[in-house]
Amino acid sequence: MKVTSAEFVISAVGPAQYPEDALPEIALAGRSNVGKSSLINRMINRKNLARTSSTPGKTQHMNYYRINERLYFVDFPGYGYAKVSKVQRAAWGKMVEKYLAERETLKLVLLVVDLRHPPTSDDKMMYDWLKHYGIPMCVVATKADKIPKTRWPKHIKIMKEALGVQPGENFIPYSSEIGLGREDLWNLVESMTAV
Ligand code: GTP
Ligand code: MG
Repeated sequence: MKVTSAEFVISAVGPAQYPEDALPEIALAGRSNVGKSSLINRMINRKNLARTSSTPGKTQHMNYYRINERLYFVDFPGYGYAKVSKVQRAAWGKMVEKYLAERETLKLVLLVVDLRHPPTSDDKMMYDWLKHYGIPMCVVATKADKIPKTRWPKHIKIMKEALGVQPGENFIPYSSEIGLGREDLWNLVESMTAV
């Protein structure tokens, strides 16, 4: 898809702030610092529209980005960040769970994982949870540029096996640095948001 407009819309803390124009939504879940915001920036080819940082925990609310007046990317706060308080974590869990379970305009969840490492227990939990509720998802294994290309197949295999990704399920190796997987992901996003 040719991106002609991309704009930050709102930093939502709950349903009262979710947009009401009923455009399809693509949500990004993944552990803190894995590269969710960078993934959005690469998709829209903008350096820093979605705020990124080498300090984990940067994205604290659900940030809505409207693309081509046609769909939203919804950037979630990352999970698994040790410095987040228990109370905050519980609040985050509730907000995200409610959104995932009830949001009618949600079309696809991108579960962003780090291709370099086996999934964390939180990654596995999120994968199982999405599957259990039948929420359409795609595992996006990012930071591929950080390992040699020759080792991608091995890392992909380990990731798929550890999560339990079945043949035919969506899985895209990705890199926000070199643009790997961008076309495939746009094709999927377009097919999931077609009207
Ligand atoms: P939170 O908002 O804390 O949940 O983090 P996030 O998942 O949004 O991660 P973010 O996009 O801010 O990226 C974290 C760090 O990883 C930044 O320093 C990015 O530059 C780096 N990074 C993200 N994606 C890639 C990638 O594909 N390749 C490389 N080399 N670095 C990446
Ligand atoms: Mg972020």
